[in-house]
Amino acid sequence: MSTSSTALRTHLCGELRPDHIGERVALCGWVARRREHGEHLAFIDLRDHTGIVQCVVDGGADLRSEFVVRITGTVRHRPEGTVNDALATGGVEVGECDVEVLSAAEPPPFPLDERAPDVDETIRLRHRYLDLRRDEMQRNLRTRAKVNSAIRSAMDGQGFVEIETPMLIASTPEGARDFVVPARTRPGSFYALPQSPQLFKQLCMVGGVDRYYQIARCFRDEDLRADRQFEFTQLDAEMSFADQEDVLAAISGAVDSVVEAVTGGRLGDVPRMTWHDAMDRYGSDKPDTRFGLELVELTDLFAATGFNAFKAPCIKGVRHPGAAADTTRSRLDDLTDSAKRWGAKGLVWMRVEQGDDGATVLNSPVAKFLSPEELDGIVTRLGAEPGDLCYLVADDWHAVCHVLGLLRLELARPPVDASDLHFLWVVDFPLFESVDEATGRPVPAHHPFTMPHAEDLGLLDGSPEQLLKVRSQAYDLVLNGWELGSGSVRVHDPAVQRRIFELLGISPEDAQERFGFLLDAFRFGAPPHAGFAFGIDRLVALLLGEENIREVIAFPKTQSGGDPLTGAPAEIDPAQLEELGLRLLPRST
Ligand code: AMO
Ligand code: AMP
Repeated sequence: MSTSSTALRTHLCGELRPDHIGERVALCGWVARRREHGEHLAFIDLRDHTGIVQCVVDGGADLRSEFVVRITGTVRHRPEGTVNDALATGGVEVGECDVEVLSAAEPPPFPLDERAPDVDETIRLRHRYLDLRRDEMQRNLRTRAKVNSAIRSAMDGQGFVEIETPMLIASTPEGARDFVVPARTRPGSFYALPQSPQLFKQLCMVGGVDRYYQIARCFRDEDLRADRQFEFTQLDAEMSFADQEDVLAAISGAVDSVVEAVTGGRLGDVPRMTWHDAMDRYGSDKPDTRFGLELVELTDLFAATGFNAFKAPCIKGVRHPGAAADTTRSRLDDLTDSAKRWGAKGLVWMRVEQGDDGATVLNSPVAKFLSPEELDGIVTRLGAEPGDLCYLVADDWHAVCHVLGLLRLELARPPVDASDLHFLWVVDFPLFESVDEATGRPVPAHHPFTMPHAEDLGLLDGSPEQLLKVRSQAYDLVLNGWELGSGSVRVHDPAVQRRIFELLGISPEDAQERFGFLLDAFRFGAPPHAGFAFGIDRLVALLLGEENIREVIAFPKTQSGGDPLTGAPAEIDPAQLEELGLRLLPRST
């Protein structure tokens, strides 16, 4: 069947070309613009999802913007001098038109052209159906559909089976708050919406599925940001008898097919970096490798320093090339405040200048506290040149990396730009991110089903310091500084799983109650397995150069979690509450 013609039309607006000249066509769409030429001639720009074509209506037409019309006419050359090269259909127009109004329309509450992105977002979302008529939104939705289709064909081609897992489940631990659904038939009981299909995909492995995937909707009640929504979509996958390399290869296959479908380019070999190097060099476990300003190790230069602030376990610096002239004192004060908000005790800055004798001089309020050797060391290590600005932080390794990592982004992060895609695998994550000071318990870096490195299993019985040294078989995919996805080799041995729950402070009873079904399943023959999930919203946004994933979601929530179109979330009928056995507490103000 033709993708253009239907009962009402023969062609789509955007597809008419000089080849069609002389053909009688029927087009359907919305009136994008109407210009009158006197009483007896009207030019109508007719729009559908493929674009715009100019229709010339003799005798005028009583049409307004966004009316839905069917226009029957003959394709002809545009008159000499009126060809519009900016329009794909700009060489032709449709003349001798008959116009039939299919639906009248009120004036839209905001302009549906390139001015729309400046419109208040709540208004756009309240009338999302109008917003979706815009070229950009049409492009975004269609690109997203292409991405889903490329993922499906890559995963199918690699022997993965698409399986739908339930939406009404018991809680899955991914570290966010659950959205819950009250169970009418069991008052007082609740389903949780899945934060991910994690446990079900592992059960699929026990069930002999071998290779599972799903384009899975996930729900997490967490603070919303540019790259976070309450509900979002993952490519979720799991493989049996597989290790990290197998998973990375399979996921690369899917991402490669997506990149090719959207950009025409190929993924190529994705570089790898260990978590430790990522933190050490970029101060982040999701480094934006599109630009330099790497963190430079300086600790040893200050082993015998007289400057109190630098008597610290770790000192690193960042050089911002050529930034001295454009960085005012008040900007430096702001950056110092930001660094403190991020957890630093302070921020040392140094303007790099050329002295009268031609030597490189560091101009900084703290220069007087540092020895000539220390100052020379900074210049040499950072490769500082006159005109640069250098920033130094002293603290423990984690804090130094964290603060300079954020500072680096603040100083030089390029905007989201679809033309420059820097994918990166970050591997060898630690099993535990930190030890909670209050409880003394380790905090898992990924979810608790992640397999430690075989060589580090012994450390699980060690001190808190040793626990922090345990590497896990967990890996992330990063794109332009966004975490695109995460995965791991899973624990399939119930004894190791129990030990990890124990370390995390999940008692055997608690573990049995929350994850008993998984532990039980493992008693019946669990294959070694590993998997991954990446955020499709994030991937599509970055491939399109969109700063916010809302732009690639048909009906997203606002920053405050509401849907201005449907009014969700909304109160429910008291009778409905009654039926669910629920009563509302008085609202605290
Ligand atoms: P993780 O929790 O890292 O791993 O999630 C995987 C990817 O999902 C995307 N993502 C989000 N996208 C939009 N809004 C959100 N609120 C949001 N939260 C997560 C990110 C993220 O990298 N079950 C594991 C995967 C596994 O181990 O196989 C999981 O869900 O792109
Ligand atoms: P103070 O000795 O606290 O008066 O700090 C002197 C200068 O060193 C100020 O510019 C502080 O911002 C900076 N500073 C203090 N502590 C640190 C630190 N741990 N790392 C980097 N700079 C610091």
